[in-house]
Amino acid sequence: MVSLQTTLGDHSFTNVFMNASGVHCMTAAELDEVAASPAGTLVTKTGTLEPRTGNPEPRFAVLELGTINSMGLPNKGIDYYLDYAAAFQARHPGQTMFLSVAGMKPADFPLLAEKIQASGFTGLTEFNLSCPNVPGKPQIAYDFETTQEILTAIFKGFKKAAGVKLPPYFDLAQFDQMAALLNQYPLTFINSINSLGNGLWIDPATDTAAIRPKGGFGGIGGQYAKPIALANVRAFRQRLRADIGIIGTGGVTSGRDAYDLILCGANLVSLGSILATEGISAFTRLTAELEAEMAKQGYATPAAFRGQLKTL
Ligand code: FUM
Repeated sequence: MVSLQTTLGDHSFTNVFMNASGVHCMTAAELDEVAASPAGTLVTKTGTLEPRTGNPEPRFAVLELGTINSMGLPNKGIDYYLDYAAAFQARHPGQTMFLSVAGMKPADFPLLAEKIQASGFTGLTEFNLSCPNVPGKPQIAYDFETTQEILTAIFKGFKKAAGVKLPPYFDLAQFDQMAALLNQYPLTFINSINSLGNGLWIDPATDTAAIRPKGGFGGIGGQYAKPIALANVRAFRQRLRADIGIIGTGGVTSGRDAYDLILCGANLVSLGSILATEGISAFTRLTAELEAEMAKQGYATPAAFRGQLKTL
């Protein structure tokens, strides 16, 4: 009998799958659909201090092997998602959900943390340090000094379970430096990776970029991201404190893809592009495919093979 039960910190989940922030999580209705699916948990769209409309459309396109997006953090604001979380907790006692939040400037992060700390939220908070799509705003976690300042400011008063969403890294020195930095803080998890920032796709029928914002530059997800996601999850698992869990994100279109992320060290697996293109039924299909892959390999739980990648 195969079980997809998993844990992150003190929190337990019946299934490793969840949505990635940004997909199927803007409104209470969308979040309710994820909650009613086989997914083990859910995360809100990244909430900012004030609601945002985001970038001009078209800002999302489906590509041959994935997606490109430059949404620009449209969201209903932190208060909306805190209200949703309070209602979710009342309706689903004992279940854990995630709040995703981001500042539009570094000083916003401790303010968001204070709001969540003062609320009745009992789930996990994901501080998004990696959105590539807000014009004029760099991806924070490529700036190690600012990342350190933000985490120091957050954890001055924040005592609840928290993690960070990271961009993809491409150099071993970056893994060493970022892991050493993250290991200084009481983090429960990291989420690796956000989309591959600032890709460009051209429609060959019109010689035109596929999306409008930033001259067509946007975050790339889907199958393009899988090898990078695997390497990032693996590299961080080898460098982070053992008590910091990992949400693996990037390139999952099959149960085997999720299996591979777990093999690299993921505790949970989040779905971005595939959830956007296939819809909520992706959770049912991928759950069945992952269970079948685990049965084929002789594993009863994700813990039995988590981090057990073999190398030559
Ligand atoms: O553009 C967006 O809203 C994407 C956010 C993210 O990738 O974190």
